[in-house]
Amino acid sequence: MNEENFISSSKNLVDEAIENSLRPNNMSDYVGQTKIKDSISIYIKAAKSRHEALDHVLLFGPPGLGKTTLSHIIANELGAQLRITSGPAIEHAADLAAILTNLGKNDVLFIDEIHRLNRAVEEVLYPAMEDFALDFVVGKGPAAKSIRLKIQPFTLIGATTRAGMLTGPLRDRFGVLGRLELYTDKELASILHRSASILGIKIEPEAELEIAKRSRGTPRIANRLLKRVRDYAQVKGKGVITTQIAKDALKMMEIDEIGLDFVDHRLLSAIIDKFQGGPVGLETLSAATGEEASTIEDVYEPYLMQLGFIARTNRGRVALPRAYKHLGRFIDNEKLDMLQKLEQTNQETTK
Ligand SMILES: Nc1ncnc2c1ncn2[C@@H]1O[C@H](COP(=O)(O)OP(=O)(O)OP(=O)(O)O)[C@@H](O)[C@H]1O
Ligand SMILES: [Mg+2]
Repeated sequence: MNEENFISSSKNLVDEAIENSLRPNNMSDYVGQTKIKDSISIYIKAAKSRHEALDHVLLFGPPGLGKTTLSHIIANELGAQLRITSGPAIEHAADLAAILTNLGKNDVLFIDEIHRLNRAVEEVLYPAMEDFALDFVVGKGPAAKSIRLKIQPFTLIGATTRAGMLTGPLRDRFGVLGRLELYTDKELASILHRSASILGIKIEPEAELEIAKRSRGTPRIANRLLKRVRDYAQVKGKGVITTQIAKDALKMMEIDEIGLDFVDHRLLSAIIDKFQGGPVGLETLSAATGEEASTIEDVYEPYLMQLGFIARTNRGRVALPRAYKHLGRFIDNEKLDMLQKLEQTNQETTK
């Protein structure tokens, strides 16, 4: 079995260099996400015309959907300096205080993986976000005094794959909440079109759509597959990515026609075959498949849920009729009935 994972939408080193070259620099090159893009564009204009800092922005959604990219674009469009750090990189409250006091007026501070900030550091952020101030306690006991130090107004952009893991007080201090959605095939095809032209890859339009369909709604995966298919086209074809070349290359990578790889198949067949279709708890599923629970939750489930292949219930994960069909598994009428009801309530609650 081909154990290399093309789908894992988290980053690797090769991605890093290429991603930088493919990362759009302005809103007009940033495909899709129109809801967030439209509203943030308005807030940027308004903030600029008032010469004020943009409200703090929280971007959340599965890996590889463009949170970091959008943060760069926001800073760029604001004409502001961007300072980049991440939750786990800030160990002490003093580290954050140093970063904050060094920010210029209306600069942007980007904190990636903001759900991983520790509590002491997070508490420095509260007055900083709310009043552009840092609070220090000097002295001990009854003589202790609290001193407030003003800092320059700034915009915090926080990014997280797990909005649910943010504390309430932190989440409440963001004025703009932006949830990134999985991309449509058409949007991904247009991202691929742009990437191919930047990288000088020859590709037919139908082949763009073919790769897009298998990129599970995620630009990072689309770009990664594009590079692999290009290699295949160079060795097995004439250097041009045709639909057939794309199909053959993706088949070799064990990515099926809707973008599922061997891990998805392993997860779905575990739920259906080992656990009679579920419900099965996340930890149990993780143990049965050897995939980390957080990877299942962040990387695999969003797309499987979007496809209507699985549903999350309060008792665990359940496979839906479409998953049975895709895997070619039998489903009896009684079960079908029950699952269709579940599917319906599931659709209603996710609307
Ligand atoms: N809307 C978009 N239009 C065009 N390309 C995009 C878009 N969003 C993302 N990309 C491409 O996908 C790559 C990955 O995006 P990005 O690094 O911003 O994802 P992320 O959400 O920050 O992921 P992570 O959660 O892993 O940090 C970018 O380098 C860029 O090439
Ligand atoms: Mg990122």
